[in-house]
Amino acid sequence: MSADQPYGDKAMVPEGLQRRPTILMVDADARLRKLLRYHLRRHGCDVDEAESADGAATVLAAAPADVVLFDLGLVGDAGMDALRRIVELQRAGCVIVTASHARLEDAVRSLRAGAYDFVDKANGFEDLRLAIRNALESVDLRQAVQQLRAQLHERDEERFEHIIGRSVEMARVMKLARKVMDSDITVLLEGESGSGKELVARAIHFHGRKRERPFVTINCAAIPETLLETELFGHAKGAFTGAIAQRVGKFVEAHEGTLFLDEIGELSLGLQAKLLRVLQTGEIEPVGGRTASVNVRVISATNLDLGSAVQSGRFRADLYYRLAVFPIRLPPLRTRRDDIPPLVDFFIAKFARQEGKAIRGMAGNVLPRLLHYDWPGNVRELENMIYRAVVLTDDRILTLRDFPMFAVTAPQVGADNDPVAPPQPSLPRAAVPPAPPATPPLSLEEMESQAIRQALAATGGNYTRAAALLKIGRATLYRKSKKFGLQS
Ligand SMILES: Nc1ncnc2c1ncn2[C@@H]1O[C@H](COP(=O)(O)OP(=O)(O)OP(=O)(O)O)[C@@H](O)[C@H]1O
Ligand SMILES: [Mg+2]
Repeated sequence: MSADQPYGDKAMVPEGLQRRPTILMVDADARLRKLLRYHLRRHGCDVDEAESADGAATVLAAAPADVVLFDLGLVGDAGMDALRRIVELQRAGCVIVTASHARLEDAVRSLRAGAYDFVDKANGFEDLRLAIRNALESVDLRQAVQQLRAQLHERDEERFEHIIGRSVEMARVMKLARKVMDSDITVLLEGESGSGKELVARAIHFHGRKRERPFVTINCAAIPETLLETELFGHAKGAFTGAIAQRVGKFVEAHEGTLFLDEIGELSLGLQAKLLRVLQTGEIEPVGGRTASVNVRVISATNLDLGSAVQSGRFRADLYYRLAVFPIRLPPLRTRRDDIPPLVDFFIAKFARQEGKAIRGMAGNVLPRLLHYDWPGNVRELENMIYRAVVLTDDRILTLRDFPMFAVTAPQVGADNDPVAPPQPSLPRAAVPPAPPATPPLSLEEMESQAIRQALAATGGNYTRAAALLKIGRATLYRKSKKFGLQS
């Protein structure tokens, strides 16, 4: 590195740029253009040339450049107007203004007109080289950000398109969801576990006008009661033992966006009162802290019958009416069996891709079983079942063997010559089919799953009471029932 070349070891084209950049030179001086062309090419750039701003506009219209080197030449208003035009045409790239023996005033005006940098030609090539390098880095970054944004947007789009359903019932749900997308109205999603409440909540947010704003989720059943208040509203530093630092609650995190209150039916009466206050006043009161205004769109979800929870005094009526301004009910899968075939196709394709398996479809005797089953765990149960089958199979089509629940004998994973189970005379209607005589004893997990199912059934799906029955924590119950895909 020599003193007169302070950045001599840095290339003009940044390493990260995966292509040869294009530089457009706009200069009336043909001799200078020739000289620069030589240098730029030697440094790994493609070069276009123009004598004037008009010529540059024509070139840019045909082929965008990463960087335009624009010689100010005509100092004064005409030069500035021409520069503005080029900057406008050069939105995706950068414009570097060059001038001979420039005045400070020209530099300032150029930058104000939208130029990326200003280089005095009298300083030699080195300054220009550095300016080009910086400009190319900036262009590269901008393009990367644009690509990421596009990908993110695509993912949001996917979420919506991936709500599968051709039944009349789902068409109705989607119609209602579309109606509330661009409004701030408070939505309550009701439906059994696994029926798609969160999927619809996300679709509403990510297709509404707040899609760029945060979507924040809080699961009232999965978080221990004692933590829920600070999770929701935050706490001040030193508000209680262990509150070492201030904590921002979910309401603040969701400011200007959407807060998704999942399993709202599990909220204690004490917190119901606090939530009601926030919804009424638009102000939160962090534990031990000062009140603050928040602007949050609330979507809540429940798999309980909130109406009867209100009747029995477990849920405040006034809060219920605040939350259920616009209720949308997700029908259970067993009442919209038309959705089963497209969901099956969708999940097979999804998991085959994910697992890198070339699976074409299912044997003909599988779909009738799936169509007649009751699906207490709804779409989540179907999704999990297909996932297991895709992982289990060694074949290009899924057979009954890959669905242990419907097979007569438990499958021998990995045994290739296992016979395909013959169709059963009667189709299972309950979540757990009667154990066939030759079946080995239930595994610990199966017993656990049965106990949980019974406790949830006995308490009408109330986690707090089911957890008390099972003598385990509510969060544990929630996690396990989710894992087994059998809440309801
Ligand atoms: N119509 C649908 N199309 C595609 N996937 C679906 C559909 N409905 C549900 N799913 C999938 O099923 C699973 C369960 O859905 P989701 O989490 O939205 O249910 P939920 O009603 O919120 O259940 P829970 O009450 O247990 O939280 C998710 O993986 C979701 O992507
Ligand atoms: Mg959910």
